Amino acid sequence: MAPDIVCIVRFIKNQTVQIDMSALRLSSPHYRRIAESLRHTLASGALRPGDRMISARRLADREQVSLPTALEALRCLEADGLIVARPRSGYFVCQRDISQEMLPVRALSGPVPVTLAAVARSLFSSAETRLIPLGAALPDPHWLPTDTLQRALQSASRRLDAHGQSYSLPPGRADLRNKIAARAAQWGACFGADDLVITAGATQALRLALRAVCQPGDAVAIEQPAYFGTLLLLEDLGLKALQIPTDLKEGLLLAPLADAIKQHRPAAVLASPTVQNPLGASMSVARKQELVALLEQAGIPLIEDDVYGDLAGEGQRPPACKAFDQSGNVIYCSSLSKTLAPGWRIGWIAAGRYHTQVLQARMAGDWAGAPLLEAATSDVLASGDYDRHLRRLKVRVADGVRAVIAQVEASFPKGTRVTAPEAGFLLWVELPPAVDALEVHRRALALGIGVSPGPLFSPAAELENFLRLNCANEPTTQLLNAVDQIGTICHELTTSSRPAGFEIIDGSEC
Ligand SMILES: Cc1ncc(COP(=O)(O)O)c(C=O)c1O
Repeated sequence: MAPDIVCIVRFIKNQTVQIDMSALRLSSPHYRRIAESLRHTLASGALRPGDRMISARRLADREQVSLPTALEALRCLEADGLIVARPRSGYFVCQRDISQEMLPVRALSGPVPVTLAAVARSLFSSAETRLIPLGAALPDPHWLPTDTLQRALQSASRRLDAHGQSYSLPPGRADLRNKIAARAAQWGACFGADDLVITAGATQALRLALRAVCQPGDAVAIEQPAYFGTLLLLEDLGLKALQIPTDLKEGLLLAPLADAIKQHRPAAVLASPTVQNPLGASMSVARKQELVALLEQAGIPLIEDDVYGDLAGEGQRPPACKAFDQSGNVIYCSSLSKTLAPGWRIGWIAAGRYHTQVLQARMAGDWAGAPLLEAATSDVLASGDYDRHLRRLKVRVADGVRAVIAQVEASFPKGTRVTAPEAGFLLWVELPPAVDALEVHRRALALGIGVSPGPLFSPAAELENFLRLNCANEPTTQLLNAVDQIGTICHELTTSSRPAGFEIIDGSEC
């Protein structure tokens, strides 16, 4: 084939495809032909990352087509992640060399105390302020099925009458536990309604699990990086963190975990094998089985945090580790906070052989739940509305992730690396070493933008040049502009040196 009729194009995941340009010329609509020609130009290296693309108007003039046709061609390239729109500035070439690379997996070290509470307190002091929401790991409230939730509340309120305002005593309403167990059975979970305790979100479930299997001073093996809520729980309970190297695609690495078990004998392993926060990594089914077997053999309980599990998979979600638990060694914790209604605080725990301890601790601790919210949640799960909502949510989340990745590629300094998670809505961004994420956070906050700095995800506030970005928002001009502004801050900080030492940001400044 003659070289001038073959165009080699690199798409977002580095696949290479060959396109026969002569065939396209004959059969494609104008916009596709123009898009291919632009791709050809990009592939040739004639334009560099960060360069401005030809404007839609000039493109229309040059190609003798209408403005909408030229715009459509540019949008094709945007959809492929080759260019990105910047508000009021036009399209720019993405920095393809900064993205989609593997972030380094860190080495194993021993158990360490967690000293994160003061940092977290100062960072969360801005939580009441309305920020552009790239920080907290929450779906856009407008993406939640508010009408469905309100209808379910009204119907539950009528049904429960005055009892709606009473206590829901542990283990929680049977109708809700039945629905949760039935849904979990679809991915192979081996627990029934009687094995479940309803909790105030996954956070309470995790606390109950840790209380059931650990004593103060014990080490708990966790992923590195780890969700800061887990770290704060460890700190609060006087537990040490044993950080296990975690791969951004494969999740928790089993060989280092086996070594850590031999060397340090943790009291428990607490992990999110499906859509880990902040990496977005999911373990394969085979590796989940291996993990369950490893811990069963070692006699160490696995506390499985599955709050993002429903966001995984195209149709049916993949099984959680709990599906492979024959002996009750896996303590399964989850909630609807990431998919349905964070503020309703509906979570649950299937604690296996620790069920009685957990139930007792739930009674002694928080005593009771809210019957109205439990009954309404049960209705939503029963109606099929939750599944319909999940399907829509996953599509929106994927669009949000793609748009933010493209904007990071266009706006962040060279040397930045960003994950490309298969599921979930979080991006983990490694900034050039000189960039201090806490300073990025402080400057972004001053602009009304929320981000989660890397130090939140390690026991002693390390990971200074990492950021976590929440992408579960409509990729509006305002949102992408905010990503662009964070990029500008990072550019500024690459040229100035990192401040000496760690400084806690004073909430009042924010
Ligand atoms: C991994 C992980 N586990 C647990 C939680 C807390 O969930 P809940 O709001 O249900 O307590 C979060 C919230 O961000 C999370 O990311």
